[in-house]
Amino acid sequence: MIFPEYRARRLRKTPALRSLVQETRLSIRDFIYPLFIFPGKGKQEIPSMPGVYRLGVEDLAGEIKEIEKLGIPAVMLFGLPKFKDAVGSEAYKEKGVIQQAVRSIKAQKSSLAVICDLCLCEYTDHGHCGKLENGELDNDATLEILAEVVVSQARAGADLVAPSGMIDGQVQAIREALDEHGFEGIPIMAYSAKYASAFYGPFRDAAQSAPQFGDRKSYQMNPPNVREALREIQLDIDEGADIVMVKPALAYLDVIARARMECNHPIAAYNVSGEYSMIEAAARAGFLERERTIMEVLTAIKRAGADMIISYYAKEMAKVLEK
Ligand code: PBG
Repeated sequence: MIFPEYRARRLRKTPALRSLVQETRLSIRDFIYPLFIFPGKGKQEIPSMPGVYRLGVEDLAGEIKEIEKLGIPAVMLFGLPKFKDAVGSEAYKEKGVIQQAVRSIKAQKSSLAVICDLCLCEYTDHGHCGKLENGELDNDATLEILAEVVVSQARAGADLVAPSGMIDGQVQAIREALDEHGFEGIPIMAYSAKYASAFYGPFRDAAQSAPQFGDRKSYQMNPPNVREALREIQLDIDEGADIVMVKPALAYLDVIARARMECNHPIAAYNVSGEYSMIEAAARAGFLERERTIMEVLTAIKRAGADMIISYYAKEMAKVLEK
């Protein structure tokens, strides 16, 4: 049937009709809220991410309670250690900031899933995601450090671990380390297709993790590639990933959609810092309607095929979405 018998606008006539035929619906249960945690007390707004704060580990309890009450099912933790060194050793200390944070959330008997980011760039003085050898990332030596980090996170009580360094073999090394230490029940959320993106700019400001020289292009993916993303995803699944991730989200919706078609593992998408700050800046300038833009962007990420979305907007979404 074609026009004039068929009229597509019939089903757009009223809010009720539009609701009945709506194909994608966000739920607060789709979201993961990232937290930046430093040792000690207090709260500091991140200049390039208005409305997002770094939090002191000793003041975490209230925030966790609030997130749980809003119906958000999970948090993702990033640590901002007091000291950085060449191998990121604060990342695997028993009393490291992340280990403390996980312990305190667990002591609170929170029902939130606690996801630990598993990377060294926030912990190394050079800002790269692993150990360096002659100015280059030493892949296999980095795997040994990551294995130590994951065991310390598991001991602290992490529910999920999320390796984000794009180090070859990291999922396998982490799976082996977890299994060897009796943590075969902890799933891995692998940042499988993580691109070398300009959209991480504000995060590096938040985490003080910008590389001190060079860039991450020898380990993170080249933005023009999508078939390579599918290979990376397959490799991570073969190595034991339970959830795969595409990151960033907005400029990579085609990657999410392709991943959705070609794999049956749960897919996470990371609505990264630059995607957040871009909307905030445009809204402040009066160029965009803020709430509508946020909803449109997040819905698009789910429509593309993401099962879960890591977003700085999670708390705000809780206020507009039904549970
Ligand atoms: C690395 C890591 C990064 C992000 C999450 N994990 C930054 C990077 O690779 O430089 C970026 C998240 C964001 O931009 O919101 N540990």
